[in-house]
Amino acid sequence: MADDLKKGLEGVLVAESELSSIDGDEGRLIYRGYTIEELARGASYEEVVYLLWHGHLPDEAELAEFTEAINEEREVHEDVLATMERLAEADERPMAALRTAVSMFSAYEPEDDVEPDDLEATLRKGRRITAKIPTALAAFERYRLGEDPIDPHPDLGLAANFLYMLTGEEPSDVHAETFDQALILHADHGLNASTFTSMVIGSTMADIYSAVTGGVAALSGPLHGGANQDVMEVLFEIDESELDHREWVEQANEEGRRIPGFGHRVYNVKDPRAKILQERSEELAENGEDKWYDYTTTIEQFLTEEQGLVEKGIAPNVDFYSGSVYYQLGIPIDMYTPIFAMSRVGGWVGHVLEYQEENRLIRPRARYTGPTDQEFVPLEER
Ligand code: SDX
Repeated sequence: MADDLKKGLEGVLVAESELSSIDGDEGRLIYRGYTIEELARGASYEEVVYLLWHGHLPDEAELAEFTEAINEEREVHEDVLATMERLAEADERPMAALRTAVSMFSAYEPEDDVEPDDLEATLRKGRRITAKIPTALAAFERYRLGEDPIDPHPDLGLAANFLYMLTGEEPSDVHAETFDQALILHADHGLNASTFTSMVIGSTMADIYSAVTGGVAALSGPLHGGANQDVMEVLFEIDESELDHREWVEQANEEGRRIPGFGHRVYNVKDPRAKILQERSEELAENGEDKWYDYTTTIEQFLTEEQGLVEKGIAPNVDFYSGSVYYQLGIPIDMYTPIFAMSRVGGWVGHVLEYQEENRLIRPRARYTGPTDQEFVPLEER
């Protein structure tokens, strides 16, 4: 057995995949051969999920069929809504509510959908989860506002419909397009912690609901998906500080604070997704409050140019600009990570499907460093 222990599995290859590739030195990300820039500019989130799951961009007929199959699954069972209401009343964290909703979806499958999960069944259930997450999340938020949930809008795509279900207002084209791009940017990213969690669960041949529930759980941590909310909380801190934003950053740096949204296990340069989200944040700022964008760029400028973090391979990641984008879209800040999950379900299902094609139970080893040859002493003599 190879004896070179890799903490955190850093740099360890555990599978081959055709879904996405990250060049951490060049700051490039592709999904099945297409650059993230082309997909963000020219495709919809539904097209990208189809690409991830089926291996090619859909033609119009394929997209229409796929979109219809997702849209007809948008409703969630009244018990799920009732649970979202109870959890909202209990002031539960949205990621915990989302994890609960996903694990409930399996309990309300159509009768004929309980056969063993072959590829078709997993794809069908993956579409079901993708369709129902926005509805369950929006309902949770409406209950938190003391409002009734809003039914899905039959004519809107997944991104626009989520924004609609939060407020009852159809989003502007700019807001809908920006949010759809954000979902595309977050859809897949190699074997990140939450995707690998889903794969481990899928490798035991557990059902896709269990694999996605595990992905949601892993994504909720502040070192992973939770960073986008932390970034916005830093911007709020700056906004409420007596210091001007530049002084605030200098003081935070002197105190050795680790700024969320910076640093990445794979990227040594600025995350290409951060570059696109920065453009969207700047555009939104031009028509709204520009201070959030200014605070964010000030932090970046200070840490990268004056503190030289980029020389150390520490640069803005996807979470650094998503905060100011979502805030300007009017999304509550503790919904940022659930939105990350809403998008990443595309990658989680895609990687579980791909890995199960030639499945092998994922079961690493640990080097034992505990005591050996212990003499057992009965309880009464201890
Ligand atoms: C995501 O894996 C993925 O692909 C994830 C993701 C995806 O799409 O799935 O891209 C999404 O999770 C983005 C990352 C979101 N997390 C954060 O923004 C939290 C802040 N970042 C870090 O905690 C850290 O960078 C990690 C957790 C993201 C990566 O951690 P590593 O690879 O274990 O690196 P490390 O913690 O060992 O840090 C390496 C060096 C250290 O310096 P030294 O102690 O060696 O001198 O970089 C420094 C760290 O101190 N460093 C930072 C920093 N993050 C790391 N210094 C200042 N500010 C920071 N934010």
